[in-house]
Amino acid sequence: MLPFDTLIIIDKSIALPVYKQIANQLIKHIRNGVLNSGNLLPGTRVMAAILKLHRKTAIAAYDELSAQGWITVIPRKGFMVEQNLSEFRPRKWDERTAGYSYNSAMPVPFYQSQLPAAPSLTPSPGFDLIIDDGHPDPRLAPLQLLNREYQSRLKQPQAFRRISSAMSQGSPKLREAMVSYIADTRGIKMQPDHIIITDGAQMSIYIAASLLLKPGDHVLVGEPGYYLANQVFEQLGAHIIRIPVDENGLVADAVEDACRKYKIGLLYLIPHHHHPTTVTLSPERRMRLLEMAEKFNFIIVEDDYDYDFHYTSSPYLPLAAGNHHSRVIYIGSFSKSLTTSIRIGFMIAAADFIRQAVHLRRLINLKGNYIQEDALAALITNGDIGRHLKKANKLYLERRDHLCTQLDLHLKHVVQYQKPSGGMAVWTVFNKAYPLKTIAQKAAKCGLYINNGNLFDTPENSYNAMRFGFASLSLTEISEAVHILANCI
Ligand SMILES: Cc1ncc(COP(=O)(O)O)c(C=O)c1O
Repeated sequence: MLPFDTLIIIDKSIALPVYKQIANQLIKHIRNGVLNSGNLLPGTRVMAAILKLHRKTAIAAYDELSAQGWITVIPRKGFMVEQNLSEFRPRKWDERTAGYSYNSAMPVPFYQSQLPAAPSLTPSPGFDLIIDDGHPDPRLAPLQLLNREYQSRLKQPQAFRRISSAMSQGSPKLREAMVSYIADTRGIKMQPDHIIITDGAQMSIYIAASLLLKPGDHVLVGEPGYYLANQVFEQLGAHIIRIPVDENGLVADAVEDACRKYKIGLLYLIPHHHHPTTVTLSPERRMRLLEMAEKFNFIIVEDDYDYDFHYTSSPYLPLAAGNHHSRVIYIGSFSKSLTTSIRIGFMIAAADFIRQAVHLRRLINLKGNYIQEDALAALITNGDIGRHLKKANKLYLERRDHLCTQLDLHLKHVVQYQKPSGGMAVWTVFNKAYPLKTIAQKAAKCGLYINNGNLFDTPENSYNAMRFGFASLSLTEISEAVHILANCI
């Protein structure tokens, strides 16, 4: 008999159950030829004695091997390694197939973006503290609740039979739940065929722009603005016209000037907590933009990614809630209400536009993650999301105020900022005498990550500013981050 006591090593400190450790190691020995087809294994009583385990564990290991087709039970004889092992191994068709197949660059020309690589805000590991550009705190995310709903759906086999082509538009349950949720929270009246669920708001921006723009079209965006949306428009060959953003949002007079000069295909708007400066578009400007959209015949893409986070005043209803005759495409996101690791976004528009959006989305992704979407639908209808947002808003308000106090105390002569009415970041403009690039390098040596201040720069404008994300940091972490920055300066 083979020395199974040395062939099988059990590690009780790891999470993998012991019976699976035994099964895995026996499979390895079969694959390596230590055990061959037709060999008999010791009975479960003997194997348990050799390995000094309970017999039930040996039985479970053999059951696992038998279920996977590695061994078979021979009555009155015991357990035998299968004669015809069903494991398929690829056959070599050319002796030269050894070596790495992808060591050279692509041998034919292919599309190369002429745009600079979109900046990544994810720092390399090794930082003790990270100032992000406005993320929720994953420690608060209602993941237990989502997991409860997710798990309960995994246990319902009929859930898996529901898959149909309609799923490319997002789970019907989620779209139905969104009808009343969106009406209650945003005053937008719509039906399930007016909405598509996407992998985050970013995918909605991409789909909307792809359906609306042709190369050479003109797109109006805020300056400074959300660089990842701008890159989508540029990628599609559109010309970006940058409209200044002041304390009341996009400057309407500048929009009108641009409309008189160019035929505008699309206006991209972030009405609440404009990215990056966090200002909210005033009601007067909302009215004027809607009037201009009608007069100059353009579409408004309203990206309300941050709508759920308001601290001291109520949000304004979106432009999409007004009477605009399908001229406003509304985009929203749950990435901030859940956590940025789970990206669920949505787009609301006229049904004919949504049908084409679904068509386009199917070319990239046949079906979304509808079990996750159903789980989210349950959290929306049972009120869990609303309760979570209330709690998170209370805490984020405290964090926002704490950050502002810390900035006043330790960086008063170095930075300028306006306290945002909502959102997850403070637009922090550093005095030009303190270049963020140098500060970022020094901060990194102290274990603090900040971006280097040029994320929002354009050839015409340089800001030396960053979005100081406060929502993901505890009060102590905020104090610590400001303290390190002050020391670096
Ligand atoms: C203005 C703006 N729009 C869209 C997005 C993308 O949202 P999502 O994470 O849901 O894709 C972001 C991300 O932070 C954003 O800042």
